[in-house]
Amino acid sequence: MIIKPRTRGFICLTSHPDGTAVNIKNQIDYVKSQGEIKNGPKKVLVIGASTGFGISSRIAAAFGSGAATIGVFFEKPAAEGKPGTAGWYNSAAFEKEAQNAGLYAKSINGDAFSDEIKQQTIELIKKDLGTVDLIVYSLASPRRTHPKTGVAYASVLKPIGQTFSNKTVDFHTGIVSDITINPIESQEDIDNTIAVMGGEDWKFWMEDLQKAGVLADGVKTVAYSYIGPELTFPIYRNGTIGQAKNDLEATASTIKTILSDVNGEAYVSVNKALVTQSSSAIPVVPLYISLLYKVMKEKGIHEGTIEQMYRLFNDRLYTADGTIPLDAEGRIRIDDWEMREDVQQEVDKLWKEATTENLGQISDIEGYRNDFFNLFGFNFGSIDYEAEADEQVNVPSI
Ligand code: NAD
Ligand code: NA
Repeated sequence: MIIKPRTRGFICLTSHPDGTAVNIKNQIDYVKSQGEIKNGPKKVLVIGASTGFGISSRIAAAFGSGAATIGVFFEKPAAEGKPGTAGWYNSAAFEKEAQNAGLYAKSINGDAFSDEIKQQTIELIKKDLGTVDLIVYSLASPRRTHPKTGVAYASVLKPIGQTFSNKTVDFHTGIVSDITINPIESQEDIDNTIAVMGGEDWKFWMEDLQKAGVLADGVKTVAYSYIGPELTFPIYRNGTIGQAKNDLEATASTIKTILSDVNGEAYVSVNKALVTQSSSAIPVVPLYISLLYKVMKEKGIHEGTIEQMYRLFNDRLYTADGTIPLDAEGRIRIDDWEMREDVQQEVDKLWKEATTENLGQISDIEGYRNDFFNLFGFNFGSIDYEAEADEQVNVPSI
């Protein structure tokens, strides 16, 4: 079929199999250009492995460190005249590239929050790898069905305590407007968001893996968090999602205890704000990112998910002397360049100036838009989007 982008709000309903393959290939080429991650991981499980930070983690492990990878995700193949999801095509392209490079790669498509998918994953590890030495937890989801109680939770993106008003942008049109977001009405909003995006599911995974005896001695696990600037605090770090991130961060020490038998370590890495399917859904954040991109590109310190994940592996998790640089709260920081004072001061200044009229000049809204379409395999110069594409691409191992 001929596949063009079709968007509804911050969602792109279509994805291009050949374009997503270019995106994956570019990420692999980047990792190869950086050289081998010495003492890196060898058998890696990535939970949330199909898009954003997860697919980039999988690529960094496989092509930077020669790792065998198992990826868990929730995606859809093509059906009824509709192309598959971007994460489906990403995983198809990744597995093919891994096979060509002689690297083990298998994937499991299903609800990672369920006990069933956890057991399926454990069986696959037992059968093919024996143990894993790194578990990357990179899930982002608006809902979770609790595996023990069957209760379905939906997360919300709301401030806590007071109404939040600020600027926001529709990144398709470039129109800057004021947005007002009402605060939570009850504690339930916080509890539900923690149930979805907090640390419980990460803990369940690590408990199950530990009980099954599939963790290598000295195993590491890492989950991803975000802090960001003060201007997004009301909607992010001090909002409902921030409460979930606090819970996730606290879970790292619980997991460390669970892993004591195998001398394991659990970390949270605070990552940079980047265009992904999840971040484009958060109000105010796209405007911040488009200003941030402008400033960081001008300073020559811009990174995408693959640059971030390579740096996480090479300069943080697997350093030459084995020490992992941490902040005062015990977290890994690869948002260090985003949070640099000179960067934040400039973003702050631009934030105050930003209007629909000047946005094209003072921000990188164009770069935002391009990254967004790239996520779905669009806007790649090497692809002929008028040509028929084979949407029935399969993930080889599924
Ligand atoms: P993303 O939407 O690109 O990726 C989410 C992944 O989770 C996908 O692989 C998806 O298939 C998988 N997934 C979702 N629900 C699932 C389910 N029920 N079962 C199995 N798989 C499921 O998101 P992302 O932006 O890469 O986010 C990953 C993590 O990084 C999140 O914890 C997020 O908060 C964090 N983070 C994101 C940013 C950012 O700016 N994007 C910054 C810092 C930290
Ligand atoms: Na290293």
